[in-house]
Amino acid sequence: MTAAFDAIAPTYDASRGGTARAAGFAGQLAPLLDPAEPVLDIGVGTGIVAAELAALGHRVYGVDLSPGMLAHARERLGARVAVGDAGRLPVRTASVAQAVSTWLLHAGPDPRAVFREVARVLRPGGRYLVIPARGRQPDDDIGRIVRALEARLDPAATRQDAPDVLTPLAAAHGLTYEGPAGERPTVFRVSPTAMADSIATGRLFTGAWQLRDEDLPLVADACDRLRALPDPDVPRVREMADFVMVFRREE
Ligand SMILES: C[S@@+](CC[C@H](N)C(=O)[O-])C[C@H]1O[C@@H](n2cnc3c(N)ncnc32)[C@H](O)[C@@H]1O
Repeated sequence: MTAAFDAIAPTYDASRGGTARAAGFAGQLAPLLDPAEPVLDIGVGTGIVAAELAALGHRVYGVDLSPGMLAHARERLGARVAVGDAGRLPVRTASVAQAVSTWLLHAGPDPRAVFREVARVLRPGGRYLVIPARGRQPDDDIGRIVRALEARLDPAATRQDAPDVLTPLAAAHGLTYEGPAGERPTVFRVSPTAMADSIATGRLFTGAWQLRDEDLPLVADACDRLRALPDPDVPRVREMADFVMVFRREE
């Protein structure tokens, strides 16, 4: 996992929506954060989201497992970042008022271990804000094929970070899911052919960027299904939405 993120670190920001994505996420998180308290960004990555939060007046500290990703975060945030495992945070018990993670819980760590650690480091009443990789998705012909591929690539749902998957894992550690907040819809147009092309490169599709050799036939099959849809070159108008999951540590 660390090696994979080290390898993509130089191109990560540009290939994941750049500062537009980061500023959008920061805009969703900021109204839910207390500017008087520091923020711990768990899985801070290159620091692109944390830097946008800092620009909005928040004091952000970051932890990430990948030294390659963190080198970019250090350029943005200086000494406020440290190499560390989200499942074993280098942070004192009950010392954090608020923590955030964007696109972390689908990316490799065991969410149970992350919630256990978040529950340990948060003060009673503290909040953990999570922007999942899989926001609200359209239920259209493209979406059905992509979701079926995800299910085949990840039958145990270890890369799923939807509320119904995460809520019971958080509750087991005394973190209550208070619901979604700060929904930010995005409308874009993509044809089945274009979606097949991007899935084939493993770039756009969250669950497929770490493809193993045995996964390739499944991806090829999904690409064939996309290209076999009616009017495969006609873009579909797709509305998706990113949202923030709000978890609170019980008092
Ligand atoms: C998809 S990136 C998201 C980075 C950043 N939050 C963003 O939105 O740009 C996932 C990040 O989680 C980090 N990560 C994966 N497993 C981790 C773990 N167990 N502990 C800490 N960081 C981890 C990766 O190194 C990577 O930087």
